[in-house]
Amino acid sequence: MIHGPEQLLNDYKSQIAATRDEKELEQVRVALFGNSGAMTNLIKEIPGLPKEERSDRGRLLNGIKQQLEGAIAARLGELRVERLADIVETEAIDITFPGPPLGQGHLHVLTQVRRQIETVLESLGYQVELGPEVETEWYNFEALNLTAGHPARENWDSFYFTPELLLRAHTSPVQIRAMQRIKEPPIYIITPGRCYRRDAPEATRLPYFSQVEGLAIDRALTVGDMKGTLLYMIQSLYGIERKVRVRPSYFPFTEPSFEFDVTCGICNGMGCKSCRHKGWLEVGGCGMVHPQVLRNGGIDPTEWNGYAWGFGIERMAMLKHDVDDIRLFYESDLRFLEQF
Ligand code: PHE
Repeated sequence: MIHGPEQLLNDYKSQIAATRDEKELEQVRVALFGNSGAMTNLIKEIPGLPKEERSDRGRLLNGIKQQLEGAIAARLGELRVERLADIVETEAIDITFPGPPLGQGHLHVLTQVRRQIETVLESLGYQVELGPEVETEWYNFEALNLTAGHPARENWDSFYFTPELLLRAHTSPVQIRAMQRIKEPPIYIITPGRCYRRDAPEATRLPYFSQVEGLAIDRALTVGDMKGTLLYMIQSLYGIERKVRVRPSYFPFTEPSFEFDVTCGICNGMGCKSCRHKGWLEVGGCGMVHPQVLRNGGIDPTEWNGYAWGFGIERMAMLKHDVDDIRLFYESDLRFLEQF
């Protein structure tokens, strides 16, 4: 059937509108504008027309061509929107649905234990005192009665930057700094912080660890005051059933000096595998502050005296949570950390 151009315009316009997808639309486009398409054929006829008809015919066909191209482009846009709407519907994507919740972190177990220790001792009137991790030889050793050449220095061997500057081997230097800063006793402080020693990593020790040292300076303090304070701290952290004991020991900065033990929480002091059948677990050292250490801190030992202790925070966390390898605290393994 031979269509006039206007007829062709209307036919194809309704065909374009009736297409159901992009493939059908493409078929219509080819039927119009392909090599032997309806529109192409009409245009090809122009040169064969009488001369005076050619330009009118050309203008007419060109207008129709533009209308049809416009209709195809518009339909293509509609079909694409429909296809997207279809995907949203059939794949059931609800873009307003909230995503899965992000995992929430929490405080590291060592931070938790340190804060618990701080809270208990703050309730007794102690204040947190911080000091530098890079210390001078004088604060780390000399002021604590560990004079040059003292054989006990070996127990606190550390990492040196220069002969004068080192990573502190314990938090005891902070007690000297606190005495110098506060000057007038009474002084009741605790000094949590990171320490360093030249130890190879193993289940019970690391070259880096944390301590919390306590220092009390007042008039006529006794070993009983110290033991009572530490008993209160231990029972607050571990439970009222725990018992404590002190054993004679030696530190150059305290006299007398003690090792401080707590009853094993697994067997309640009866003896079991985890406390190697001793019933007691060692927590750290303590003692009455040596008069020379008070003097080095600028405090008169004829008027004031004091006690001090230094416990490892990792050790305290191990006792609290029955952890048997100190290295676990620093491996950042979430399977371990998420338990606390
Ligand atoms: N500073 C000692 C240590 O690191 C612990 C300690 C502190 C002992 C205070 C007695 C008094 O081992």
